[in-house]
Amino acid sequence: MSDTSAAPVRRHGNLPQQFLQGSGVLWFIIAAIGQWMFVVYILGAYIPRTLGGSFERWNETGLIDGYVQNDALGNFGFISHVLLAAFVSAAGVIQLLPMIRRRFPTFHRWNGRAYMSVAVFLAVGGIILVWVRGTRMNDWAALGTTLDGVLIVVTAAFTLRHAMARRIDLHRRWAMRLFLVVNGVWFVRVFYMAWAIASGGAGMHRTMDGPTDILVPYLAFLVPLALLEAYQKARESRSSAFKLGVAGLILAGAGVTALGLFGAWMMMWSPNILIFG
Ligand code: HEM
Repeated sequence: MSDTSAAPVRRHGNLPQQFLQGSGVLWFIIAAIGQWMFVVYILGAYIPRTLGGSFERWNETGLIDGYVQNDALGNFGFISHVLLAAFVSAAGVIQLLPMIRRRFPTFHRWNGRAYMSVAVFLAVGGIILVWVRGTRMNDWAALGTTLDGVLIVVTAAFTLRHAMARRIDLHRRWAMRLFLVVNGVWFVRVFYMAWAIASGGAGMHRTMDGPTDILVPYLAFLVPLALLEAYQKARESRSSAFKLGVAGLILAGAGVTALGLFGAWMMMWSPNILIFG
């Protein structure tokens, strides 16, 4: 084949790949903004109430337990979980930015160690809050979040192992899985609100035991993980149709994420930030 005939084919062949990567970047930008919205909520809702010493006011955010009288250990466990959640949400986005990875490798290593340790602490602490303190509305939904917590520990172990062995490609793949499962509880809020807006609250009960209430904690890590695997396969695939199909799914995911974030910000997060209230 001559160069002149090959060039347009190559350009045409690149388009689905660019479309696929563009969809991934768009989703990441929306998610990164949404992570910071979550950070603003956590700090804005819990720092003023904690520094003011009115710990019982934590419960104004609509918690199951939160502050419980005469349970100093449980209260301390709860507030350390919440405040460290702000760190992990901010640090995860920074950790995945290619520019930071390339230009500040030492920062990437230290931020990565801190991110992984805090994520594992949150997962183990969260599981203790659910099953020891008894903070759960129903066992099935709690089991979903518990599986997410177990996946955080497993994916953190693989991410660290491959980084220490300098298997950078495998490290990168596991780091992305870790990022998604650490954001499992964020996805719960995003999916929940997107579904509430789109369906008018179908399958949701006030007692949190409707079919949607039980399914969302599982879908919150299964769907993002499945989409990530499809994205990786599509990047390596030679099929334009597959690339375009997966790009379409990621774009739909970006739309759902944006809708859910809008709902979460309007209904769950901004009303509880003290300077806004
Ligand atoms: C590692 C990622 C995690 C993050 C970023 C995170 C974030 C948060 C945040 C922000 C809250 C405060 C609730 C609110 O104001 O909306 C919270 C509470 C809580 N989290 Fe987590 N969490 C994580 C993992 C987990 C896991 C794996 C579990 C359980 C298996 C869990 C169980 C809980 C429980 C039981 C509460 C108290 C809820 C209440 O009293 O209503 N968390 N978490």
